[in-house]
Amino acid sequence: MTKTGLIGWRGMVGSVLMKRMHEERDFRRITPFYFSASASGATHRDLEGNAHTLLDAASVERLGEMDIIVTCQGGDYTKSIYPALRASGWRGYWIDAASAKRMDDDSLIVLDPVNREQIDAGLDQGIRNLIGGNCSITLSLIGLTGLFKAGLVDWMSIMTYQAASGAGAKYVRELLTQMASLSSHVATELRDPSTPVATLLEKARAAQHQPSFAQKEFGAPLAGSIIPWIDSDLGNGVSREEWKGEVETNKILGLPPGSIRVDGLCVRIAALQSHSASITLKLKEDIGQDAMEKLIREAHDWVDLVPNNKADSIGRLSPAAVSGSLRVAVGRLRPMSVGEGVYSVLTTGDQLLWGAAEPLRRALNIVVDRH
Ligand code: HSE
Repeated sequence: MTKTGLIGWRGMVGSVLMKRMHEERDFRRITPFYFSASASGATHRDLEGNAHTLLDAASVERLGEMDIIVTCQGGDYTKSIYPALRASGWRGYWIDAASAKRMDDDSLIVLDPVNREQIDAGLDQGIRNLIGGNCSITLSLIGLTGLFKAGLVDWMSIMTYQAASGAGAKYVRELLTQMASLSSHVATELRDPSTPVATLLEKARAAQHQPSFAQKEFGAPLAGSIIPWIDSDLGNGVSREEWKGEVETNKILGLPPGSIRVDGLCVRIAALQSHSASITLKLKEDIGQDAMEKLIREAHDWVDLVPNNKADSIGRLSPAAVSGSLRVAVGRLRPMSVGEGVYSVLTTGDQLLWGAAEPLRRALNIVVDRH
């Protein structure tokens, strides 16, 4: 059985990954070893009911005994341990949710419904680092796999609506705290149906600007607002999250950098879970909406192609509709009036599943199959 070291399994992405691996019986295919950065030596009972002694996540020697390492511990951990581990002569497979190694030449970005061929070719060539992609871009690629695989996309403008949980666990708590604070500020007035809406808005606005309003993590109110910047400032008007769109799309598809132009603004919204993206697509050849729908729908089992009408869009094409499922909803598909072969489309999917955990557990299975 393949010795597999698990790191960061307690965190938000890690715990979703453990749950998915349990549901899909992946643990029966590996021998898991649980590592911890803070509690080595303690006992952990896993989802299978088995007890494990936690190993030290900083021990290159212990990690070096693994055939495969799966980490959701974050980029700082990757940067601190990975070079030392490889320098020690370790030749195992490194499967990582963090972006630290994503664009390195010795890494593959794993999203097998879209790039299984690239993954197999890379593994054949001896690449041993399999990295999950950025959640926004992977969800859009999963939704539009059919169009990308057909080589139809010329360029794509992608405007994202990203959920608080994409930023991390602390941000989820902060958004919920902000929501609770807003609603407690208007609770009395809300119970009285005669309260003018202007009063409700004024009170809610005042709550957002109180010094006690929780905003340590986001740096601004998100409940009742948006935050139009995600990740660091690259200094040229582009956020790091926005920069990832084009470089990762081309790398995932195995294309030379810049082959498909991708750009847009990334915005944090007050959704809790699931990222959405409003996309403007320019096709190389205008095959028409019906043929596009067929390609999108038939690409794989996880697409829910939502008819472009109000009732279906409201009911099926939202974070509330897809969160907690592997379904990636694709809708609002229609030709735009701005030019030939230009279409609008909106994708939404759970960024903790297809955006993070699912590509990793599938990469693990691909490696185990070959082992
Ligand atoms: N950077 C993403 C976000 C997380 O902040 O929503 C997933 O890549």
